[in-house]
Formats: sequence, structure tokens, C-alpha cells
Amino acid sequence: MRIITSAAAMQKLALQWKRTGVKIGFVPTMGYLHAGHLSLVKRARQAVGKNGKVVVSIYVNPTQFAPTEDLSKYPRDLKRDLKLCREAGADAVFTPGDAEMYPGKTEGNYSTYVIEENLGCVMEGASRPMHFRGVTTVVAKLFNLVLPDVSVFGQKDFQQAAIIQRMVKDLNFPLKIVVAPTLRERDGLAMSSRNKYLAGDLRRQATVLWCAIQIAKSIVEKSKSVSAADLKVDLKKLIEIEPDAKLDYVEFFNPETLQPVAQVKRGTQMALAVFVGKTRLIDNSQL
Ligand code: PAJ
Repeated sequence: MRIITSAAAMQKLALQWKRTGVKIGFVPTMGYLHAGHLSLVKRARQAVGKNGKVVVSIYVNPTQFAPTEDLSKYPRDLKRDLKLCREAGADAVFTPGDAEMYPGKTEGNYSTYVIEENLGCVMEGASRPMHFRGVTTVVAKLFNLVLPDVSVFGQKDFQQAAIIQRMVKDLNFPLKIVVAPTLRERDGLAMSSRNKYLAGDLRRQATVLWCAIQIAKSIVEKSKSVSAADLKVDLKKLIEIEPDAKLDYVEFFNPETLQPVAQVKRGTQMALAVFVGKTRLIDNSQL
């Protein structure tokens, strides 16, 4: 497995592969890998076959964090990540530093960003202004360096995957996006690098996101159609029974357009963000 830290070297290798007709599968990550990330690596391998090349990027992208967020505390363990990538059968790991990804930025000489102007305005985009600008910018840059034929994203970040699909379509990136299912712990908690922060009872309280989804599912199954506004009030109460849980948002929307719906039915997408202690967790599911 190759470990590449320079942007130029990554692009050179990708161009070499492309010239010889080798298919490239790509999984962008911010590291501190868990089984959810590794399932995307397996999916990428499935897409490109044994003669293809699978690249994983590990880069904690500063432009998608607000100054108040957890950039400096974001968990990192490159040595362990590299071992996991090797075991998962990756051909290369691209792990650039900030100076490689945003050259000149500290001197004010980096000024180009990619902005998706519609799907990114609600939910995560409303709670975390500038977040998706950072995501689309870094993913566009990574696509230009890794030159993938297929790139795999997790359904865990449903809105992110929708925005990346829109960006690929709108900006004519010549690649296919695959969206892979969310891997969960036994108690339903969606795997996330941020789960590391959940000490003691917070870890138990974190299951409240999955509980809220299960309850919404059972309500929809029973009553066919329910008011989104009423369901939001009920779920907020339910979530905040946990002493350290605070609802940021819960939204019901059309999975294609991300437009909110007034009536929740089977097939409606639900997404929520909850602070459990200081840790902000997200989850989503189709009802
Ligand atoms: P990160 O949070 O590390 O996630 C990398 C990829 O793993 C994303 O596509 C995410 O949806 C997926 N993923 C996370 N948890 C998962 C789970 N439990 N099951 C399945 N897939 C899961 O998302 C990012 O990084 C960044 O925004 C990035 C796209 C790399 C841009 O910086």
C-alpha cells in the first residue's frame, strides 16, 4: 500500500493509472477510521474489481469546521488508520497536510471555493454555516487529485452525499457516486469518529437518536400520515428526557429534493442532530 502526502505525487500516480486504463475507486475520510469507513473501502473495491485501485484519503479538512468547532480536538490516529486501510485492501492512502491542500492560505493567497447553493441551506447547512462550502471545496479538490471513476460516500451523512451528487452533476465531474448504508453499533448508535468523546453515561444517552428514529417509524406505520410539526414536538420531548441530550434539529423531508414535508408518511426521510453533552451527533433514516 502506498502512502502519499504530496498533492502532485497523488495526481501523478492517478494519471499513470488512468493512462493504463486502470479504474480508480475513492473513499474520502477525515480518519480515525471505524467499521463504517471500512465498509466504504470494501464497496469501492467491489466497484473497481481486483485490477482496479482503491484510494482512501485521510485529511481533517479545516475549511469545513467553524472556529467554534472541534477541529483541533478532532480525533486522530494515523498509524492505526494506515493499518486498517492496509487490512481492508486499499492500494493507496492519500494523507496530505494543510500546506498541500490549501497552499498559500495562511498568507491570504488561497481564494477559490465550491458552493452548492440549494441543498446545503437546510439542516446541517443551517446549523453549521460554511460547513458544506468546506466539504464541496475539499471533495472537488480531492477528485481533481485522485481522478476517481467511482467515489463512495456514507448514507450516515445523507445531506452531504446529496450535495456531492449535485456537485458532480452540476460541475460535470466524470465519475460515479455510490452511497453506502450506515453501519451501526449493536444498540443502533451510528458509528462515528466522534463517538470516542462519549464517556460513561453519555454513550448510553447517545442511543436516543436511534430510539427517536424507531419511534417515528412505528408512529408512521400506525397512522399512515402524521403532522411533521406535531411529530417534531413529541420527539424533542422524548430526546430531552435524557439529562445531557439537547435537540439541535429534527427534520422530515423528501429524500430526493431535501424539501421539508408538512405530512410525514412512509418513505419520508428523517434526519436529526442532537448534542449529547458537548458532542454533536447526527443520524437519519427513511421512514
Ligand atoms: P468522515 O466523517 O470521516 O466520513 C467519511 C465517510 O464515511 C463519509 O462518506 C461518511 O458518510 C462515511 N461514514 C461515516 N460514518 C459512517 C457509518 N457509520 N457507516 C457508513 N459510512 C459512514 O464525511 C467526511 O469525513 C468529510 O466531510 C469528507 C467527505 C471526508 C470531506 O472532508
